[in-house]
Amino acid sequence: MMSLWVRESVNVTPENLVPRVALVTGANRGIGLEVCRQLARLGLKVVLTARDEAKARAAVAALEAQGGQIVAQPLDVTDAHSIAAVKEWLERELGRVDVLVNNAGVYLDEGASGLEVDAGTVRATLETNTLGPLQLCQALVPLMTAHHYGRIVNVTSGYGQMDSMTSRTLAYKISKLALNGITRILADELRDSGVLVNAVDPGWVRTDMGGAGAPRSASRGADTAVFLATLPDGGPTGRLFRDRREVHW
Ligand SMILES: NC(=O)c1ccc[n+]([C@@H]2O[C@H](COP(=O)([O-])OP(=O)(O)OC[C@H]3O[C@@H](n4cnc5c(N)ncnc54)[C@H](OP(=O)(O)O)[C@@H]3O)[C@@H](O)[C@H]2O)c1
Repeated sequence: MMSLWVRESVNVTPENLVPRVALVTGANRGIGLEVCRQLARLGLKVVLTARDEAKARAAVAALEAQGGQIVAQPLDVTDAHSIAAVKEWLERELGRVDVLVNNAGVYLDEGASGLEVDAGTVRATLETNTLGPLQLCQALVPLMTAHHYGRIVNVTSGYGQMDSMTSRTLAYKISKLALNGITRILADELRDSGVLVNAVDPGWVRTDMGGAGAPRSASRGADTAVFLATLPDGGPTGRLFRDRREVHW
């Protein structure tokens, strides 16, 4: 388990210990909300983000009963201004971010033929599932390397694995395939920086996206993301995980 607290000054007194800060995208519902709940339970300070600020606040209110430190912030991962604003807020208000969980995602072309899916759908999927996570990494990694510490968790899918590049659902599949590539490239660029970058396949999870018939609870879907968000120093990087185990790309 990583150290959940970080020393703010050279004097090691309880007052100088602050919790690590985790930012989670698309966290107003589904797996993202559950990741926030579990990280807060572990003692991290959680920045719960959603593209609709009112939904972010409502989600924070729903988690308040369990205790822990959770704050709401607006963040649309497809909007560069929104990403810049949340970075500026983190720098100004918290002075750090230690964990980034790129969870926000859309699934717009379920079952559609790759020969027929329109370019707008492919573009919208890539903007949210691929470019959003990349731009968040680019914005927030400097705040991590400044403290020689970071954990980036990209929520991908079994549909992004090479074996899944079979007919249909092209937009979603290639968006996660590319996210897997981003995970490996950034992990390589950040080797020895203290920042670990990994991807997680949550499995088929009962959320708005996964549907009511999915076998896994949101809590189980969040578990491996939380495991990767709290890896110890020297832990794995540039890998894909499911159920806390490494799986092939
Ligand atoms: N559920 C599954 O079976 C499953 C399987 C494999 C992978 N995954 C992945 O797990 C992640 C979470 O999925 P989920 O099942 O929890 O889905 P979900 O219930 O549909 O939640 C998706 C979340 O992403 C947010 N979002 C979408 N576009 C956004 C944007 N531009 N900016 C910020 N937030 C945005 C949504 O916000 P709004 O409420 O505003 O729409 C929502 O909070 C996704 O990356 C998904 O691809 C899920």
